[in-house]
Amino acid sequence: MIGSIKLIYGEKEYLLPLVEGSEGEKAIDISKLRQETGLITLDTGYANTGSCASSITFMDGEKGVLRYRGIPVEQLAEKSTFKETAYLLINGKLPKQKELTDFSILLNDNSLVHEDMRAFYENYPRSSHPMGILSSMVNALRSFYPALDDLEEEINMTVTRLLSKVRTLAAMSYKISRGHKVVYPRPDLTYCANFLNMMFDSPVQPYEIDPDVVKALNVFWILHADHEQNCSTTAVRVVGSARVNLYAAISAGIAALWGPLHGGANQAVIEMLTDIADNKNMKRVIERAKDKNDPFRLMGFGHRVYKTFDPRMKIMKNMCDTLLEKSKFSDPLLEIAIELEQIALNDDYFIEHNLYPNVDFYSGIVLRAIGIPTNMFTVMFAIGRLPGWIAQWKESIDDPNWKLCRPRQIYTGPNDTRYVSIEER
Ligand code: SDX
Repeated sequence: MIGSIKLIYGEKEYLLPLVEGSEGEKAIDISKLRQETGLITLDTGYANTGSCASSITFMDGEKGVLRYRGIPVEQLAEKSTFKETAYLLINGKLPKQKELTDFSILLNDNSLVHEDMRAFYENYPRSSHPMGILSSMVNALRSFYPALDDLEEEINMTVTRLLSKVRTLAAMSYKISRGHKVVYPRPDLTYCANFLNMMFDSPVQPYEIDPDVVKALNVFWILHADHEQNCSTTAVRVVGSARVNLYAAISAGIAALWGPLHGGANQAVIEMLTDIADNKNMKRVIERAKDKNDPFRLMGFGHRVYKTFDPRMKIMKNMCDTLLEKSKFSDPLLEIAIELEQIALNDDYFIEHNLYPNVDFYSGIVLRAIGIPTNMFTVMFAIGRLPGWIAQWKESIDDPNWKLCRPRQIYTGPNDTRYVSIEER
């Protein structure tokens, strides 16, 4: 505690403790507010409310800073791999060589899914969205892998199974939706290369693993790996607070991420850019985004926390150039995205509202260059965010103050009324 803040309410004065984080952020601790004053706070959308203390990820929205366990995301994107970054987020430190080797072996040994799960996929309508399938399949893992008696082993095995099988589950939904042969994980491939091979290998056209594409996927997933208390992470923490198994909590996180205001924005950006390409209506799109009476939002722009450039966006944008240069194919949507960004960044509305491109604005272009179909874009976000969800869930269950998440409300409905029989209505 670093002091207190005085609350004067009625005839009484109350002192509320002030707490400070390791980066100087300050908060009023209101954990005893109702008990002492009878008051609660109201903060629809939680824009001003801290749900927890966390040592995993630090963001500075004004300066465009993002660090995982203190390490700037730019350094991890340049020097680390997604597997190593996942280990860092979940275990709180970078692995030594033996730890990383053991982690790789565990991930490989748990990369298959139960063969009976294929029946679920084969009975989904072919047009099903892969996020709905992934959320269900992750939840179904508990049925195939029941809880182990030893709690520590249960947690470690569940974490490993999730990190490894999420790739297999995602690639299976892609292959089966197209009526293609399912490709199994291979012990000789790295985490990201294995996923690409499961997605794109075929008996008649073996997939050629391109190191530059593998590097791009590592960076893509590192950039998505965690982001403090975003909507889907909050869903994982809230659902996990009921002490349900981790598969169910992650399934809830996947469902939250699916929304177009959150992870679903990467697919919505490409749909928006395609609409502009087809209808040459960029001016109209900008006007709609600025129209208070129009619920349309410029997809890939704006952020609850970043009020300047999203540091992930800059890296993603550079990756577009590298990948497209290498694949020798130009993506017309990239030109449109660059033009749209320039217009928005010079428009008073976006300047006054502090609206900048976020991680989703260019991520779809990177995924298109890798060959990922648009309806799998948010699945790619989910695979990247999984280590962050797991790390946040583990931090919550290890917190001695961990309790069921159950907010209060301000009631605005009718006062005490009586039941009216149907004859009198
Ligand atoms: C992600 O939280 C995270 O960390 C999320 C994420 C992560 O890694 O987990 O970073 C991933 O979800 C990124 C965001 C992806 N979503 C989009 O790109 C969808 C488009 N963006 C907007 O819907 C919006 O910017 C949000 C939802 C992202 C954030 O909006 P807020 O903080 O809830 O703010 P708001 O909707 O109340 O808007 C404030 C003002 C409004 O105008 P006024 O009524 O005050 O005049 O800004 C305007 C809004 O109309 N505004 C936009 C806009 N975003 C906000 N206007 C046009 N286009 C936009 N994109």
